[in-house]
Amino acid sequence: MKFDTPATTNPIDQLKVVGKPTDRIDGPLKTTGKATYAYEWHDVAPNVAYGWVIGSGIAKGRIASMDLEAARKAPGVVAIVTAENAGSLDKGKRNAATLLGGPEIEHYQQAVALVVAETFEQARTAAGLVRIDYTPADGAYDLAAVKDKAEKTKDGDSVVGDFAGAFAAAPVKFDETYTTPDESHAMMEPHATIAAWDGDRLTVWTSNQMIDWMVTDLSATLKIPKDKVRVISPFIGGGFGGKLFLRADALLAALGAREAGRPVKVGLARPLMMNNTTHRPATIQRIRIGATPDGTITAIAHESWSGNLPGGSEETASDQTRLLYAGANRLIGNRIATLDLPEGNAMRAPGEASGMMALEVAMDEMAEKLGIDPVEFRIRNDTQTDPADPNRPFSQRQLVQCLRMGAERFGWAKRNPMPGQVRDGRWLVGLGVAAAFRNNLLTKSAARVRLDQRGIVTVETDMTDIGTGSYTIIAQTAAEMMGVGLDKVAVRLGDSSFPVSAGSGGQWGANNATAGVYAACVKLREAVAQKLGVNSADARFADGQVVAGNRKVPLAEAAGADGLSAEDGIEYGDLDKKYQQSTFGAHYVEAAVDAATGEIRVRRMLAVCAAGRILNPKSARSQVIGAMTMGVGAALMEELALDKRTGFFVNHDLAGYEVPVHADIPHQEVIFLDETDPISSPMKAKGVGELGLCGVGAAVANAVHNATGLRVREYPITLDKFLDRLPAMG
Ligand code: MOS
Repeated sequence: MKFDTPATTNPIDQLKVVGKPTDRIDGPLKTTGKATYAYEWHDVAPNVAYGWVIGSGIAKGRIASMDLEAARKAPGVVAIVTAENAGSLDKGKRNAATLLGGPEIEHYQQAVALVVAETFEQARTAAGLVRIDYTPADGAYDLAAVKDKAEKTKDGDSVVGDFAGAFAAAPVKFDETYTTPDESHAMMEPHATIAAWDGDRLTVWTSNQMIDWMVTDLSATLKIPKDKVRVISPFIGGGFGGKLFLRADALLAALGAREAGRPVKVGLARPLMMNNTTHRPATIQRIRIGATPDGTITAIAHESWSGNLPGGSEETASDQTRLLYAGANRLIGNRIATLDLPEGNAMRAPGEASGMMALEVAMDEMAEKLGIDPVEFRIRNDTQTDPADPNRPFSQRQLVQCLRMGAERFGWAKRNPMPGQVRDGRWLVGLGVAAAFRNNLLTKSAARVRLDQRGIVTVETDMTDIGTGSYTIIAQTAAEMMGVGLDKVAVRLGDSSFPVSAGSGGQWGANNATAGVYAACVKLREAVAQKLGVNSADARFADGQVVAGNRKVPLAEAAGADGLSAEDGIEYGDLDKKYQQSTFGAHYVEAAVDAATGEIRVRRMLAVCAAGRILNPKSARSQVIGAMTMGVGAALMEELALDKRTGFFVNHDLAGYEVPVHADIPHQEVIFLDETDPISSPMKAKGVGELGLCGVGAAVANAVHNATGLRVREYPITLDKFLDRLPAMG
């Protein structure tokens, strides 16, 4: 189904099932331990052996020699795979570094060997006997040190008008630089894979967000046809972008299984997750804003620097600034330098999550400079069209409504605009606001639906559920389309033998994957109507029956003994070119800072989101509160501590890499504005999960400033960065 004109009325608009707060249909499987995660497929691959990945002990250089002798003789060892004996391998197009390194080393803990043994413990012990001598080379590890060697990225700068001239002429000017650190996804479930070969056919049970990307890159790396690779990943214990790609666990499990001649399972230990897989790259961001005294922005510039391995991509931290605020003169762009760190790539709303942490503090600082309320300053600079192209409107843009509703609900009017004034016992208390912004991406997505003689509708698509609720919204979509209850719908996900979906990433999963299911259901409705000899336009599907004219036939009967099935997908025209499709929101935070110790506690949080139709308000709310929690982590604690001499992340476990725990997070409120966006898809929905994160860090930082009068422009805001500047205690 081609979607190239805005949606009109369709069966989803009935909202009998879609749009209702619905418990996750996969919930009972998860809470009873029956949902099978990658490392737990105990029955599918008999006689499985265990692989332990050895990561490089240097970040750059060469392996001079590798002595496998002692390891080979160790008890239980079945095989050892290295780049020398693995055969000829290629590189998947989504991998910057080679997944099995050697002799050339591209980053610290790049995988250089897999030791396979009868038991996990034997593999780990034998791995400790492998002796590797390296010839280290000099590498670049410090973004600040290589910043001036950074180059413009392929997208180039977005230049509108004359920024330099307008900024120089602006009566009020702002120019500051912010930094965000390297961060780790730190999802609960490690990267893990069981691989089994049947002749030349490979099956992997793994944990991956994008099934088709994995099939494509695994077949490319192994140099075997795509149709010889099957990827199965129905449950995922968190991904956050870290499982978008083929990583060493899957490749090495496949190579280990080939070498051992039996199935092999590989899980990455936590330190390898943090140094061997991808991470969110650090950024340096400079923001300049020029305005008239009434708060009208006349010039805005946002430049962002990040680093990556050769062939890796940049963190697109300045991109939202192309779209978020008006301003006639603009200079916006990303720069990239070469760093010999583990690959930087997508993590939890890449681009906007980091970019909004700078932009939305800059907006707060500029509002203060102008003496204008920060909510009003944002509203004054709203735009309903793409600032670089006035002929390109937003499909929907309720930023102002989100800011206003949030201000009212949060009690913003009571905020003291003078920072450092509000005391509650030993606590300095402040309120902060930030806009939320994240784009809505359209990508094709397919599904297959079957109707059987019991009247059960089964949906199959390679879409994944990374803890987000995909199973449930897909079931809701099929139930609405076929006129049945959720108890009559079965959903099967995460298997490359199913039609290729949008997958889970970039908050594009919900809208696109359900739109694909919608398309397949339209086809199934046609098949049912045809079978009954009626025009599908005249057939109504409700209460488990098809009604056409004076006929009323139960779906089960219409399906017949053989059942009916249909396969289709959604494809998009150019509605995302004619219209800018984005999601908007407002984040409000109350923070308290201990006047003596500098300890920061978040006390209240509110998110107001405008993100098209909300398919399931319950799971959407869960997405947003999870995202808000990540925002607190980014603002106050998350940071991979980089050893700049040797190029590795020192705090590579969940003890040293701090993320928020329950005690750090207060009650969170989420409000969804009533919105449908007929330009996004037949579902009229948009992404919402990552919107919940974009802006939170800045709202926390702005609340800390309002509480204390202090600005910390280097995230995370830890007390060592401001303790000596805290106001004197009265
Ligand atoms: Mo998301 S960081 O694109 O999985």
